[in-house]
Amino acid sequence: MKVQAPSQRGLLPSEYLLSLVRADQPIPGPPLPEIALAGRANVGKSSLLNLLVGRRALARVSATPGKTRALNVFRWGDVCHLVDVPGYGWSKAGKADRASWRLLVEHYVMERPMLRGVLWLLDIRHDPSPDDRAFGALLAQRKIHVMPVLTKGDKIGRSKRDERVASIGGVLNVAPENLLVTSAHTREGQEALRDAVLAFVA
Ligand code: GTP
Ligand code: MG
Repeated sequence: MKVQAPSQRGLLPSEYLLSLVRADQPIPGPPLPEIALAGRANVGKSSLLNLLVGRRALARVSATPGKTRALNVFRWGDVCHLVDVPGYGWSKAGKADRASWRLLVEHYVMERPMLRGVLWLLDIRHDPSPDDRAFGALLAQRKIHVMPVLTKGDKIGRSKRDERVASIGGVLNVAPENLLVTSAHTREGQEALRDAVLAFVA
């Protein structure tokens, strides 16, 4: 793959392609590796997708969690398909919602042939919840790149940050230096995020 200067990468053309309602649904057009953005409802998945591609409002950011029910697919240049995965663990979800989420997301994560990597988003302010840990266990079942990404870094003061990163790393059993802190508001972590995705698909 052609390596581009960091300043050019954000300018790769990106577009919304379609929403998958089934885990085995094909994406029309030339095949590309898929990178999923997953995490609990409201953690900042759509905002992180926008940060990654350098667009303000490509993926829809929502104030009400749990709005996304399908796998929203975006093309990022000819690098990859970015897949915005519906969030888990929203409080108002009923039994039927949970069951359809599991059917869609578990099958997608476990069986999708073109899935190359998962950006697993966790809110820097909180320790991973039981839902987070269950999702982590699911990811661990498949040999696939997983990068934990801490979101909303701007909401934590500098003095508390190391402590939060260490605490989350402790729960996940991941070294703190392997946790990427990001902020969709200050654009912290944008370059490192792009580098990680490019490394996943290389
Ligand atoms: P669902 O699709 O509903 O599961 O949510 P999501 O994970 O896609 O989160 P989304 O990007 O819609 O963001 C949820 C809320 O968090 C919005 O109000 C965002 O403005 C806010 N948010 C997202 N990222 C950041 C961030 O880095 N900093 C701050 N302060 N707020 C953020
Ligand atoms: Mg979203």
